[in-house]
Amino acid sequence: MELVVAADKNWGIGFEGTQNLVVPEDRKHFRAVTGHGTVIVGHRTLLDFPGGRPLKNRRNIVLTRDPDLAVEGAEVAHSVEEALELAKNDPEVFVIGGESVYRALFPYCQRAYVTRIDAVPDADAFFPNLEADPAWRLTDPGEVREHEGLKYRFQVWERVE
Ligand SMILES: NC(=O)c1ccc[n+]([C@@H]2O[C@H](COP(=O)([O-])OP(=O)(O)OC[C@H]3O[C@@H](n4cnc5c(N)ncnc54)[C@H](OP(=O)(O)O)[C@@H]3O)[C@@H](O)[C@H]2O)c1
Repeated sequence: MELVVAADKNWGIGFEGTQNLVVPEDRKHFRAVTGHGTVIVGHRTLLDFPGGRPLKNRRNIVLTRDPDLAVEGAEVAHSVEEALELAKNDPEVFVIGGESVYRALFPYCQRAYVTRIDAVPDADAFFPNLEADPAWRLTDPGEVREHEGLKYRFQVWERVE
């Protein structure tokens, strides 16, 4: 299982329920990485998608503790175990947030596609600091890109322990 995240310098990933920084090229990068795979997403992040709708062309698994939630175009899982069971035969599974879902599924992830943005905007949602985790190694630092003065890189991290 892999994960895809955009994180600022301090590993901040969101503020007040939405992404704290958006780089247009990152949308394309996200689509290219997730392709036609399966995505696992938290209910709160789903609500922040355009129209609150799941992502097109991908199998969407939404994590919620609400036993009555039904989402058109998505399957619903009520626990990490249920999500893992639903996705177990899928060749490509991506955890796409938010904070609570990254943290819950982090132990199952082997690779992280991190759009690392060189800025420190307001943040109230964070991703685990991979630089401080000896179990993870930066295997592709990516080249520096720039959007309206904002520098960022498409990094790849791998679990090595
Ligand atoms: N920068 C990025 O790449 C990126 C990507 C995604 C999200 N984000 C940001 O992350 C923030 C949202 O993170 P968040 O932690 O507040 O919300 P979240 O993880 O998106 O969703 C939380 C909800 O998911 C459900 N859930 C979580 N863990 C569960 C479990 N183990 N079992 C069953 N259901 C579970 C619950 O839904 P119910 O309430 O329905 O029970 C919970 O309230 C936002 O700021 C968003 O913009 C950033």
